[in-house]
Parts: sequence; structure tokens; C-alpha cells
Amino acid sequence: MKLIFLGAPGVGKGTIAKRVVKKYGLVQISTGDLLREAVKRGTELGHKAKKFMDAGDLVPDDLIIDMLKERLSHDDCSKGFILDGFPRTIPQAEALENSGVVIDKVLELAASHDVIIQRLSGRRTCTQCQAIFHITNMPSKQEGVCDKCNGELIQRDDDRPEAIQNRLQIYETQTKPLVEFYTAKDMLISIDAGKSVDKVFKDTIEALE
Ligand code: AP5
Repeated sequence: MKLIFLGAPGVGKGTIAKRVVKKYGLVQISTGDLLREAVKRGTELGHKAKKFMDAGDLVPDDLIIDMLKERLSHDDCSKGFILDGFPRTIPQAEALENSGVVIDKVLELAASHDVIIQRLSGRRTCTQCQAIFHITNMPSKQEGVCDKCNGELIQRDDDRPEAIQNRLQIYETQTKPLVEFYTAKDMLISIDAGKSVDKVFKDTIEALE
């Protein structure tokens, strides 16, 4: 299974992708996680990407495409994968097609801006294992501590209000055109992501089976 999860920032792509990869034994490839790891390790890519990410802007296509191709060359991708947060522009989608990777389905997770802003502003992420929590929707047992690995939970720099507005605007102008791109290829399934995590997961599995 080779899938793309498409959707606005904070709609729940990462949360649902983690459950789907567990169920089917797939690999989750989050370009956001790969970039944050590069920033943490202080690589050249990390240095170049940081200023775009902190402002909520997209990292330039050439950097992202090279990073993704490198990740897709790893052996574990033969199990099948979910691309979470890629592609985000038409040139990225075209580069993926031209690389010969055949995607089975594109799942669009959709929710209102009010729901998304509530989710992003309360999100907390584990600095060690990348587990995702929410201060009210999915609180950790102990405030600031990851339930899974005891790592520190932090608020991402791009979950500040100014960056959130910018990310939502960029989604509308640069990423939303992909809905039409994949609909025209008869690959897109749209899921109402405004519901509970259990319900969105159930609907996602039904859409895949
Ligand atoms: P990235 O990390 O991909 O961020 P994003 O797409 O903005 O998505 P998020 O991770 O913010 O949200 P999500 O949809 O995964 O939601 P989550 O599951 O966490 O990218 C970050 C940056 O990297 C970009 O801004 C850009 O600079 C750069 N970048 C990455 N990829 C790129 C690319 N391809 N091209 C160029 N630049 C790129 O959920 C959010 C919160 O809601 C959580 O707290 C969660 O607990 C809660 N929640 C989730 N689902 C539910 C639910 N159903 N009910 C209640 N709460 C829920």
C-alpha cells in the first residue's frame, strides 16, 4: 500500500497516519518530521529549512524532493508507506510521478478552520519519539511528559498564532490545488476529519478496504 495523506496543517494527518501504519505494517514518512530531525541534528538541510519552517512557509521544492527521494530509497519502504505532508505543491506531485513511484490512493482529511486552529494551538509533541498529544483533546497522563517514552512534550515553534495563520493561507493557495490534481486522476478519497480520532480512523480504514 502506497498512500498519500493530504490535508491542512493540524487536521490530524500525523495522528491518523500513526494508527494506520500500525494496523497495516507500513512506514510513515512525514516530511515535517524529517525536516525537524535535520534541524535538530544541525545538518546543512536543517539550517536551510529552519527559517521557512519557523515562519510557517513551505521549504523550497528542490530541497524537499531530494530529501524525499533519499528517504524512499531505504529498504523499509518496500513494506508500503504513507506520505504524510508530501506532496504539498503541484511541482512536488509531478516530481513524485516522474520518479516512477506509483501511489495507490490519496486520502484528503478535511475539517473547518475553527477545528484546525483549536487542534494546532493545543498540540504538544514529544521531543524524543514524536508522539502527538493535545492539552484538552488528548492530554498526556502527566503534564509535559510523554506517556510512551517519558520524553519532554513541547509546543512546536510553528504552532504560534502568526505562523498558524500563514500555514493555513499557504495550504489554501499552494496545497489545495492538489485536491483537484488527484481528483482528476480518480485517486482521491475525502474523509471528514472534524470527528473524534476513533471515528476518523474507522472511516479511513473503511476507505482503504
Ligand atoms: P508538517 O510537520 O508536515 O506540518 P503540517 O502539515 O502543518 O501538519 P501538522 O504536523 O501540523 O498537523 P497534522 O495534520 O499532522 O496534525 P496532528 O496529527 O499533529 O510540516 C511542518 C513544516 O515543515 C511546514 O510548515 C513546512 O515549513 C515544512 N514542510 C513539511 N513538508 C513539506 C513539504 N512537502 N514541502 C515544503 N515544506 C514542507 O494533529 C494536530 C493536533 O490535533 C494534535 O494535538 C492532535 O492530538 C489533535 N488531533 C488530531 N486529530 C484529532 C481528532 N480527530 N480529534 C481531536 N483532536 C485531534
